[in-house]
Order: sequence, then C-alpha cells, then structure tokens
Amino acid sequence: MRRSVIRGSGHYLPERIVENSWFEERLDTSDEWIRSRTGIERRHFAAEGQTTSDLGIRAARAALDDAGLVADDIDGIVVATSTPDLTFPSVGTMVQAGLGIKRGFAYDVQAVCAGFVFALANADAMIRAGMAERILVIGAETFSRIMDWTDRSTCVLFGDGAGAVVLEAQDAAGTSNDRGILAADLNSDGTHRDLLYVDGGVSSTGTAGQLRMQGNLVFRHAVEKLSKTAATSLGKAGLTDKDVDWLVPHQANLRIITSTAQKMGLPMEKVVLTVADHGNTSAASIPLALSVANQQGRFKQGDLLVTEAIGGGLSWGSVILRW
Ligand code: ACO
Repeated sequence: MRRSVIRGSGHYLPERIVENSWFEERLDTSDEWIRSRTGIERRHFAAEGQTTSDLGIRAARAALDDAGLVADDIDGIVVATSTPDLTFPSVGTMVQAGLGIKRGFAYDVQAVCAGFVFALANADAMIRAGMAERILVIGAETFSRIMDWTDRSTCVLFGDGAGAVVLEAQDAAGTSNDRGILAADLNSDGTHRDLLYVDGGVSSTGTAGQLRMQGNLVFRHAVEKLSKTAATSLGKAGLTDKDVDWLVPHQANLRIITSTAQKMGLPMEKVVLTVADHGNTSAASIPLALSVANQQGRFKQGDLLVTEAIGGGLSWGSVILRW
C-alpha cells in the first residue's frame, strides 16, 4: 500500500522576539503569571508588512532543503492558516507563486489551532488516493494581527511563525511498523463557536476582527479531548500509549500539554516543547515543533510520533506517524 512519509521539515520565525516583560510595561500582567499559567516566556511577531505567505514561503524553502528536493518536485501545497494575507486568493497559491511553481494544486485549510493536523490528514488522504506524489503541508500564522492588545487574557498567549513538511508517497507493507502516517482522527463540534472566535469577518462585519476566548472553558475541553483523540488514532493504527516515542502536541499551554502527557502515561522527556519560546502559533505550532526537534536530531527513523491539537470551532484531532 501507499503511505505518506515525512521526507523533510523546516520552519521560519520572524526576527522580532517579544519577551513577557514587554506586556508588563503595557498591561496589568506579570512575567510570573504568564510563565506559571501558560509556560510561555517569549514569542516572535512578524514585522510590519510581513505576511503569512512570507513566513510560509521561508518555511517551505527550509523543508525542501531538508528533503533534498527542489520546488518543481512538489505536486501540491496545503496551507493550514486562519490568518491569510487576503480573504482570497489562498495563502497556498501565494506560497506556490513564491516558490516559482506553476503546476499542481494549492489551497488553504482552516481549522484554527487544529489546522495542521487537519491539513496533514487531508494531504495524506490525497497521497494514498494517488492524487499526488509529494505535497508540501504548511502551517503559517500571523496571530499578532488579530489580537486585542487591551485584553490581557488573550494577547499574551499568541505568536507568529510557520512550519512545513514535505509528505512523499512511499510503498509500504501495510503494517503498524511502516514509516509514514498510520492513522488520523478528526473532530469538530460547532456548537462551541462562542468559546473561541474572531469577532469579524467578510460576511458579517466586513472587518478582520479580533480574537475572543473563554480560556478556562477551552482549557477543560482541551484536557479531555486531546488524550481521547490520541487514544482513538493509536487504536486505529493497532497501537497503544506504550508504543509512543514522541508526543508533538499543539503548543498552546504547558499545563494542557503536561496533563495530556500524564493521561497518556508519557514522561515529559518524550514530549517536544516549544511553547516557552514560540507561544501559541496556532496552526504553525506543530510543524514548528516538528522542525525544531528534527533539527536537534531528536527523532530516529522508525520512532512513533503522536501529534494532536484543539482550536476554535471547536475542532480537534490527532495524527499518528512513524518517522
Ligand atoms: N495576567 C494576569 N492575570 C490574568 C491574565 C494575565 N495575562 N489573564 C487573565 N488573568 C486573570 C483573569 O482575569 C482571572 O482573574 P479573576 O480570577 O480575578 O477573574 C484569573 O487570571 C484567572 O483567569 P482564567 O482565565 O481562569 O485563568 P486560567 O488559569 O484558565 O488560564 C489561559 C488562562 C492561560 C488562557 C488558559 O485558560 C488556557 O490556556 N486556555 C486554553 C487556551 C487554548 O488551548 N486555546 C486553544 C487553542 S487557541 C486557538 O484555537 C486560536
């Protein structure tokens, strides 16, 4: 059977780094509160004029370099983002043009912080269906553009960045020992819209809007739903928590990550953490974490990775893959 194997990964973070102390000067908050409640110490913000597609193009180039491929080797581009440059065309097509590719397809997937997991499952399905041999899957965000800078309960949490992987079709035996994506589980429940949303949009206000979140309620859903979706995906692959070498979670909050790892019986040495340095970069956070850990040489071929995320919608899910 065909499997989608990660052939390379890459990332890009904007140059400007903003420490928690920056917020202390502007809001009634403290470095201590932000660190202890979220695990975040700093985040990157895009420069004026720097767009989501600019970040995505840089991450894509880094992933192609890591894979030893050139842009023309790519059949399709799927970008997970909720902060596109324009309402349309898609960030995907802008990345495609930026890379100088004129063939294949390019489009966006919007599932907020769960976007990369949805995009990865989507690209995997296309590869297994024979629609493409190699797909660039990118998470790219500029959440700094939709912050309410007077709301201390949200603006300290988010950052900008992009991560990318090259997924490639490879023949496999069809067992849980195969390299590549082994299983996925995707879920949404639109009745929770008001827990986490942006209060503007094309067909409502005609503006981009600002992020609104009832953080403590989202927190409760996250703790319950993330370990459950990981168990569901592992079960589909015929595997259990004990088989997991690495948890590469969405980086929203260290306390959510820790409690998910605990529920899965995983020691924190098996968890990839970037939340301290990146903050919550929404759909970019998992590919950023994957790329950083890959650059550090932490994954060995054959390691079993679990990625999981939850975000606005609510939408949540997980992907199990062997490196
Ligand atoms: N500095 C100081 N105090 C603050 C700050 C701040 N930056 N922000 C909130 N507080 C205060 C609140 O006002 C509140 O004060 P009160 O008790 O006097 O009313 C107190 O801290 C506790 O607030 P909670 O919201 O209950 O704090 P909590 O411990 O839940 O932490 C947080 C808040 C960090 C947002 C947490 O709830 C969280 O991480 N939620 C999940 C976020 C998430 O995973 N989102 C999904 C992905 S994001 C996406 O899809 C776009």
